[in-house]
Amino acid sequence: MTTLHSGPDSVYDVLGVGFGPANLALAIALHEHGVTAGPEAPFRAGFLERQPRFGWHRGMLIDDATMQVSFLKDLVTMRDPTSDFSFLCYLRERGRLVDFLNQKTLFPLRVEFHDYFEWAAARLGHLVAYGAEVVAVRPVTEDGEVRWFDVVSRDPAAPARHTVRRARALCVATGLEPRLPPGAVLSDLVWHNSELLPRVDELVRSGRPVRRAVVLGAGQSAAEAVDYLHRRLPEAEICSVFAKYGYTPADDSPFANRIFDPEAVDVFYGAPAEVKQSLFDYHRSTNYSVVDTELIESLSRTMYQERVQGRQRLRMLNVSRIREVETRDRDVRVTVEYLPTGERELLASDVLVYATGYRPQSIGDSLGEIAKLCLRDDEDALRVGRDHRVETAPNVTADVYLQGGTEHTHGLTSTLLSTTAVRAGEICSALLARRRADVPRG
Ligand code: FDA
Repeated sequence: MTTLHSGPDSVYDVLGVGFGPANLALAIALHEHGVTAGPEAPFRAGFLERQPRFGWHRGMLIDDATMQVSFLKDLVTMRDPTSDFSFLCYLRERGRLVDFLNQKTLFPLRVEFHDYFEWAAARLGHLVAYGAEVVAVRPVTEDGEVRWFDVVSRDPAAPARHTVRRARALCVATGLEPRLPPGAVLSDLVWHNSELLPRVDELVRSGRPVRRAVVLGAGQSAAEAVDYLHRRLPEAEICSVFAKYGYTPADDSPFANRIFDPEAVDVFYGAPAEVKQSLFDYHRSTNYSVVDTELIESLSRTMYQERVQGRQRLRMLNVSRIREVETRDRDVRVTVEYLPTGERELLASDVLVYATGYRPQSIGDSLGEIAKLCLRDDEDALRVGRDHRVETAPNVTADVYLQGGTEHTHGLTSTLLSTTAVRAGEICSALLARRRADVPRG
């Protein structure tokens, strides 16, 4: 429950909207600045998170899924390898440091990294209000200048109660939201993969027989969903539907991986629009619509074994698209078209999973009228400084920082964890520089 103060009497230096890894890393950077700041006043910081407790993609915490980023790109190490918020310090506290080293991997289990995030978030629990969804931000004007923001939040469990907190700066890190095909309607039988685990648990608990599940998509989440459903629903046929010929392996080779280096953000930021676009196109296979090679090989092995055994449960419906979905009381009828011939197949299914990706939440979703004060370029994209501060109308002296949703300015790392620690340090420095240059207010 919330411990953060509210009301216009208590003005925050910075309020974070969302408390996923990005703002958690910022909270740590601000906390550590406070510890070492000497006579300089520490930042008055608070974070608002709509979930009732810390959670990082809980619906996809598949037991054996691993991180796709080195543990050294944790919340702090790339900014300050001596921080005691590192993954290694977490391991030491959990008594697993030696055992982890013996695994000889840079890529921990996703569930383990989640536990690491929770451990770090718990240490800064006093800075966070959970069950606080930001629903509006209002400008507070003095002498014609927008100097503060009033941030309005509500508890999703008690939506009638609103709380207002005032801040000189916001850091918006609201993450990704599920992307669905046009016209798709979710239901008890039709899910986005972001809710995979609780939905499958519910299905298995219900004891309802499952004969067939269809998964649409060709990215990492789709392949993971196919593999997971195949294991959890041992009687069901699992159909993987996608337009490609086969899954594309993720490019995590050493030279391509440099696109995630902090220096690559500088290069990308300074490049002209057409170079930005070509860098994005060349390197999208590091992240988008790609699958870990190991998982591709494992799925292929399973398919072949099933052919040998004469009981094919895992089916790839490649070069195909879903043309129609009819949800009925107890099943969902999915019509799939094989694109080379136009031939259609009707799949009577018990479950349809859209593993059709995510997109950054629009800043307008949580900032409301403040979004109108943020400047946009010719392509209608937000203008964001290298220090992650959104450019605003000249009469706005309160600041908005953005983490995520900056792929167009800061490149492919924007929505990922690779530069989380470094970016948090950059925002902390920017807040400090702005405060030092600031006329005292409020
Ligand atoms: P994130 O989405 O984690 O957090 C945003 C938070 O804001 C959420 O807790 C949300 O509830 C909250 N929020 C949203 N709107 C709000 C509002 N209005 N008011 C209050 N709170 C609000 N990347 C990578 O580099 N390596 C990896 O291994 C993976 N693995 C991975 C697995 C899966 C299944 C997914 C879906 C994604 C990844 N990613 C990834 C990418 C992923 O974007 C990244 O790991 C982080 O989640 C980004 O952290 P953020 O804090 O920016 O967003």
